[in-house]
Amino acid sequence: MNPDTAAVAREPERVLIFDTTLRDGEQSPGATMSHAEKLEIAELLDEMGVDIIEAGFPIASEGDFAAVSEIAKRSKTATICGLARANLKDIDRCWEAVKHAGSPRIHTFIGTSPLHRAIPNLTQDEMADRIHETVTHARNLCDNVQWSPMDATRTEWDYLKRTVEIAIKAGATTINIPDTVGYTAPVESADLIRRLIAEVEGGEDVIFATHCHNDLGMATANSLAAVEGGARQIECTINGLGERAGNTALEEVVMAMKVRGDIIPYSTRIDTKKIMHISRRVATVAGFPVQFNKAIVGKNAFAHESGIHQDGMLKNAETFEIMRPEDVGLSQTSLVMGKHSGRAALRAKLKEMGHDVEGNQLQDIFVRFKALADRKKEVYDEDIEALVQAQGAAEDALELKFLRVICGTEAPQSADLTLTIDGVDKQVTAQGDGPVDATFNAIKALVDHSARLQLYQVHAVTEGTDAQATVTVRLEEAGRLASGQSADTDTVVASARAYIAALNRLLVKRRTTAEGSDTRAVSYKDTV
Ligand code: KIV
Ligand code: ZN
Repeated sequence: MNPDTAAVAREPERVLIFDTTLRDGEQSPGATMSHAEKLEIAELLDEMGVDIIEAGFPIASEGDFAAVSEIAKRSKTATICGLARANLKDIDRCWEAVKHAGSPRIHTFIGTSPLHRAIPNLTQDEMADRIHETVTHARNLCDNVQWSPMDATRTEWDYLKRTVEIAIKAGATTINIPDTVGYTAPVESADLIRRLIAEVEGGEDVIFATHCHNDLGMATANSLAAVEGGARQIECTINGLGERAGNTALEEVVMAMKVRGDIIPYSTRIDTKKIMHISRRVATVAGFPVQFNKAIVGKNAFAHESGIHQDGMLKNAETFEIMRPEDVGLSQTSLVMGKHSGRAALRAKLKEMGHDVEGNQLQDIFVRFKALADRKKEVYDEDIEALVQAQGAAEDALELKFLRVICGTEAPQSADLTLTIDGVDKQVTAQGDGPVDATFNAIKALVDHSARLQLYQVHAVTEGTDAQATVTVRLEEAGRLASGQSADTDTVVASARAYIAALNRLLVKRRTTAEGSDTRAVSYKDTV
């Protein structure tokens, strides 16, 4: 018995958390992460208590293969899973990557609904044979095999039942039921799992999993309903990252089970105090800021604005809070440090916030912290978090050295900018429609590129006119997407740095694509 099956056999009320931030989440347009970022997120997921990490789709590119292999090698407690379409080549490649893990898993899938069967043009019988052949092959390589009938919730019941039985007979140990297009609803989600467990031959010997997308905003409810119906694995992503409206959000299902254990009596292994930190890291590295009113991890999730609410909170926090901010890793103290705080105090504060930084990295944050404390009266946790998230990487080719803008009611606005490019300073003055446009034009004049600005977003980190602005920039060039983020009390400086950060990542992508190591050769949507 593989460790995942054994865990559920031991504790029938235990729900396995299968995180697919690095596979389904990373597939969402613009969310691509670098190799180092994938390793970092995998480590955080492992430490947080995720049971299974879907680390990528190894056949998709050399980059995906390398990331899954490295994550497998570094894994501590989690099972490491890779995705493979229903063909032997994909499955072999997946095994080559995951086999390094202490606990590896192969996840293979095929689209079983009429719409998906039509794409490879397979008859029901031909597809049934393919499922038997591929799951058998995967099981010969690995004793932990997950099989998914993609678009299960739009597959005819008889055919779904037939294919699930074939996969179980061929050796699948987990059967995942994807609601690929977010089409199902809670009652149906629970019934489908209940019926599969009751009617499928061998159904009682495997773990049923639920994998919901959020197109109708019901992913969390559908996942929890599936658990009610007997599913013992929830597939989810941090912040609900994923294509279109995203996947089930890990933080939502985990906290729902924790807070409403009275009516949702299931447990997970997740250390919920680590939620906030990983949420912020995923938002930064994927370049997908979290919406302010997002459940659990949104900036306003624990903020109380109205007089009645604030009054109630002061008398008894339970009047308007159903969970404590500390339970998800939000520290209670908001005013933390000032310009007299030293490096040791900053290190301790960072540690308390979940960042273990030392050496050059600590020094870099410290220098920027001091500069901020000189300019800003009060430095809050949120400010320090923004400093951490806005760090450049040592290998960056471009660095902002100097920026002065002229703006106001009289056009033209202009930017005088110096960039250090591969160690050499280059200066230019450019005009534009406003200070940000002028600054971006100046950067474009110095760095030759044809990237299109896909996203430009500004948020105030804290209250007050001296608040830092966090800026996110996403660029697209020849199908390659890259995001950058920065924070500063000067919005134009933050914008310039975010743009430069995105360009630095684009340059890396250009290079790796040219070397052939990160071409998205195949799409998981081509199911065979
Ligand atoms: O949504 C989906 O169907 C998937 C499968 C590959 C499991 O992500
Ligand atoms: Zn999916």
